[in-house]
Amino acid sequence: MIWKPHKKQEQALRTNSFEILFGGARGGGKSDAGIMWLLYDKDNARYRGLVIRRNATDLNDWIARARLKYEAVGAVFVGNEFRFPSGATIVTGHLKDDQAFTKYQGHEYQKILIEELTQIASEELYMKLISSCRSTVPGLKPQIFCTSNPDGVGRFWVKRRFIERRIPGEQYTDEVSGRTRIYIPATVEDNPTIMQIDPDYINYLESLPPDLKAQWRYGSWDYTIVKGAIYGSDMIQANKENRIGLVPLLPYEEVHTVWDIGLSDKMVCWFFQVKGLEVRVIDIVYDDNKEWGFYVQALRERGYTYGTMFLPHDSNKRDPKSLQTFKEFMIANRFKTESIERPKSKLSVIQEFRPIFPRLFFDLTKCDEGIRALEAYRRQWNETRNMYDDEPYHDWTSHYADALALMPKALEHLKNAMIQFQSGGEEVNIQYNEYGEPVYGY
Ligand SMILES: Nc1ncnc2c1ncn2[C@@H]1O[C@H](COP(=O)(O)OP(=O)(O)OP(=O)(O)O)[C@@H](O)[C@H]1O
Ligand SMILES: [Mg+2]
Repeated sequence: MIWKPHKKQEQALRTNSFEILFGGARGGGKSDAGIMWLLYDKDNARYRGLVIRRNATDLNDWIARARLKYEAVGAVFVGNEFRFPSGATIVTGHLKDDQAFTKYQGHEYQKILIEELTQIASEELYMKLISSCRSTVPGLKPQIFCTSNPDGVGRFWVKRRFIERRIPGEQYTDEVSGRTRIYIPATVEDNPTIMQIDPDYINYLESLPPDLKAQWRYGSWDYTIVKGAIYGSDMIQANKENRIGLVPLLPYEEVHTVWDIGLSDKMVCWFFQVKGLEVRVIDIVYDDNKEWGFYVQALRERGYTYGTMFLPHDSNKRDPKSLQTFKEFMIANRFKTESIERPKSKLSVIQEFRPIFPRLFFDLTKCDEGIRALEAYRRQWNETRNMYDDEPYHDWTSHYADALALMPKALEHLKNAMIQFQSGGEEVNIQYNEYGEPVYGY
């Protein structure tokens, strides 16, 4: 087998940092490099490598590619691993496995290849996965090789861990663990093979819409916000303040929900918990055109302890069979509901919602789709007026934004309910201070 690394690949393959992130743009030769990287220690009988991909389909694809190279040096693929003549093995796995993140704990893999790193939603999960990267074999150095494009649910933590405040191609030492880390970017131009054999590929990358082009063509990790994005700066701020990441369920707090009830189109339900001033958005359910029973099942399945279900006031569509409204249906299913009146104009909805934004924490693992919707919720540019429309543009993102926009009223309701509860049900006249905290008054 003859395989010669291209220049950037060689740099990635030669580095002796503990963690290597190779990537950014599409087509730079990341996957090929990863396949070859795992092969280095194939002649050591005690070498065990591990490769992790997103799901079974992607893994099979990887195995098919690796086979071409590994079989040429005498490996056979048995069960879920490659076995080399020396006795060395490379185990293959994917993230959709049950306990994907814990099943390797206690094992020893001297080399772990993680393809498409940003498919791992949080740094914690990544840390679990790499805990099995270690070596008790003299001469085998534990190392992790990751490849990735800048998209995917894990884009924020990957950026923080490997890219922010770092110079590409320079090795950094983690202050806490003392281990080394490097990011080596590559673009399609670093892959002469593809440039030669498929020169149109670069034209395809050039033709992509701006956000995707920045990521795939140039490997940019910048947080791109679409033009006219309504919550663009709010999302940037949320990211800066680390409010988008892993938001674990608080076991002793009730879970409330806010809804957008679609009339025969998309329905969205966000799940949240309130802790002090923090509003922790922990989960989401959405679907098109599903029977209402689907949502009851989705809620029950999650096993949360439910508080109040906040529904838009105007959701009075009746089910043709039972003649129930959505609210009646949910009450019949023993959920506590509350109707929320929405301002008529979307503009005032947004104005009311924005001050709440700094209090929101989003779980990226569960709410990825919703977060993407919030990022993309926008106004359209109006050519004749030479400014953005007042009203938001109606598309798939609207349902997510509309549902979440019930939040200010929902929070107000929860606060009042709490005060009533604390005052033993007496009527109280609540005033709020400038921080939105209740000031008691009778
Ligand atoms: N050193 C090399 N010699 C020969 N061919 C190569 C080499 N490196 C990469 N290639 C080929 O170039 C093509 C693209 O490479 P590869 O799939 O590794 O890129 P990638 O960065 O993983 O792309 P993507 O972003 O799409 O996942 C593949 O067909 C691969 O076999
Ligand atoms: Mg690839």
